[in-house]
Amino acid sequence: MELSEAIKGRRSIRKFKPDSVAKELLVDILEAGNWAPSAKNGHQWRFTVLTRKAKDDYNSMFRDTLDGFIKKHGRNEAGSAPGTLAIMEEAPVLVIVWNTNEYGWPSEEHSVAAAMQNICLRAYDLGLGSLWIGDVFYAYPETIEYFGKNWKLSGAISIGYPDTVGKVPKKKSLDEVAEFIE
Ligand SMILES: Cc1cc2nc3c(=O)[nH]c(=O)nc-3n(C[C@H](O)[C@H](O)[C@H](O)COP(=O)(O)O)c2cc1C
Repeated sequence: MELSEAIKGRRSIRKFKPDSVAKELLVDILEAGNWAPSAKNGHQWRFTVLTRKAKDDYNSMFRDTLDGFIKKHGRNEAGSAPGTLAIMEEAPVLVIVWNTNEYGWPSEEHSVAAAMQNICLRAYDLGLGSLWIGDVFYAYPETIEYFGKNWKLSGAISIGYPDTVGKVPKKKSLDEVAEFIE
């Protein structure tokens, strides 16, 4: 696939088929993540790949945490999180993405974001769908404690075979986001 086709054709997928994803494909996708540029070539990303029972168990912890949040703060404050959780439950794979935060620099988060983008692009290249998930932050300390990690949580990515053609959202024009100065 042409790189420009991958960049523009990738969509956030929010409806997945139940079919599992072969481990070789997941390894290939994570390999793409591991080839991202990183601050000081520090490879600050770490990936925890959840499938089957491990994914269900994590989602169930997430649901309990979110229910507690909604009881305390109200449904409105939970924003898109309940909808995102339903997608996490449907997709056969959930990758939790960590930042080892080796130097404590903000730029280490950029390294991890670059890895996440590579993952989403390679998944699309292989005929899979992905969803970059920030809503896991609703269970930020809970997720770190659940896995017993000494890292920062950067997000998560749902992966699976798409059961939809992702709708193309309205993107800003380049004029709105770029300036050229001579
Ligand atoms: C940092 C980040 C966090 C996101 N978190 C969520 C999320 O929690 N739930 C969700 O449904 N989509 C999430 N998305 C997907 C965006 O909504 C999506 O990328 C955007 O609407 C553009 O659509 P596209 O990816 O198809 O181009 C996230 C994307 C990014 C980059």
